[in-house]
Amino acid sequence: MQVYLDNAATSYPKPEEVYEAVDRFMREIGVSSGRGAYRKALRADRIIYEARKSLAELFNIKDVARVVFAANATEALNLAMKGILSAGDHVITSQVEHNAVWRPLKRLERERNIEITQIPCLSDVSLKDPGSVKTAIKSNTKLVVMTHASNVSGAILPIGEIGKICTENGVPLLVDAAQTAGAFPIDAEADNIDLLAFTGHKSLLGPQGTGGLYIREGIQLEPLKEGGTGGDSILETQPDTLPDRYEAGTPNAAGLAGLRASIKFILSEGIQNIRKRESELTAYLLDRLGELDAVQIYGPQDPEKQVGVVSINIANYQPEEVGYVLDEVYGIMVRTGLHCAPCAHRTMGTIERGTLRISLGYFNTEAEIDHTVQALKQIASRGVR
Ligand SMILES: Cc1ncc(COP(=O)(O)O)c(C=O)c1O
Repeated sequence: MQVYLDNAATSYPKPEEVYEAVDRFMREIGVSSGRGAYRKALRADRIIYEARKSLAELFNIKDVARVVFAANATEALNLAMKGILSAGDHVITSQVEHNAVWRPLKRLERERNIEITQIPCLSDVSLKDPGSVKTAIKSNTKLVVMTHASNVSGAILPIGEIGKICTENGVPLLVDAAQTAGAFPIDAEADNIDLLAFTGHKSLLGPQGTGGLYIREGIQLEPLKEGGTGGDSILETQPDTLPDRYEAGTPNAAGLAGLRASIKFILSEGIQNIRKRESELTAYLLDRLGELDAVQIYGPQDPEKQVGVVSINIANYQPEEVGYVLDEVYGIMVRTGLHCAPCAHRTMGTIERGTLRISLGYFNTEAEIDHTVQALKQIASRGVR
């Protein structure tokens, strides 16, 4: 039995329609989009437009053109933070951010002398007091950037509450939705999100190399890169119009064809139903792990307060040793170590050892969880060697 439990890294498998869409695009269209005026090129344009449109529907975004594609959440987050923060600006973030937020901020601190305030989090990686965002706001605060859910503990941060505080205080909110887009309902309007960074290959169930950024009207960003956009070729600067301003270079049209198919799948299943199923699986996993005395579980341990990500450790074993045996002996794929988020491990008290992360996806089953718990039980009693 092969069991894939590393969906927080990249979801696998994908809906059948996604494989078909990528294959069909490569074989039947396969040309550049946004450049040619012949019929095949227009078909490619149409597919990319529909991918944008379905994302706008999923996140309740009114202006489709304000969904800008990028290679992944990392590129989208870099565009947002580097595009908005200038010398001497102040930014507020949490204590548990992924390196995709933390490293660009640290670079901006070194190179643009920006000032960073980290809002404290509890050991389950949830936010201690959302109200502290308000207290931290200063006259030079230009951005609040926060993960929607931790990729280490699964804890969901109260983005709606923070969005309200940001709007009342006139500070834009950038949400890192890498772990929630496609797994948890996101409403850019109701949640007062000004910038939403997402990645296509995790819970959005699309191919790697896809992702993007929603940019609310009125938010001005400097582009991260310059280059060809297909139109306005006479200009020596990037055009002002969206999405072209931020999409220099030939897009990943085959990937976006796959993303269009995956978002259509999510919309037809219903995001609430997906969330419900993943919560059921999380509850089942937490219950079954609770049977094992040797297993320490981190995070909220409450399916209402987390996405399908659960970090654990077994007795005195290193997570890497356990992960190796899970794969080699039992065919179970999990991630071990620090999961690109040392800040979250420091908050959780696991910076020395890291954790073994089990991350569920929509297509996992209770039988796969049973197999995993049984394997962990055997490892805990027999050891890893
Ligand atoms: C919370 C969080 N933010 C950002 C990222 C970066 O996503 P990507 O690697 O797709 O750019 C990840 C991916 O692991 C993540 O979990």
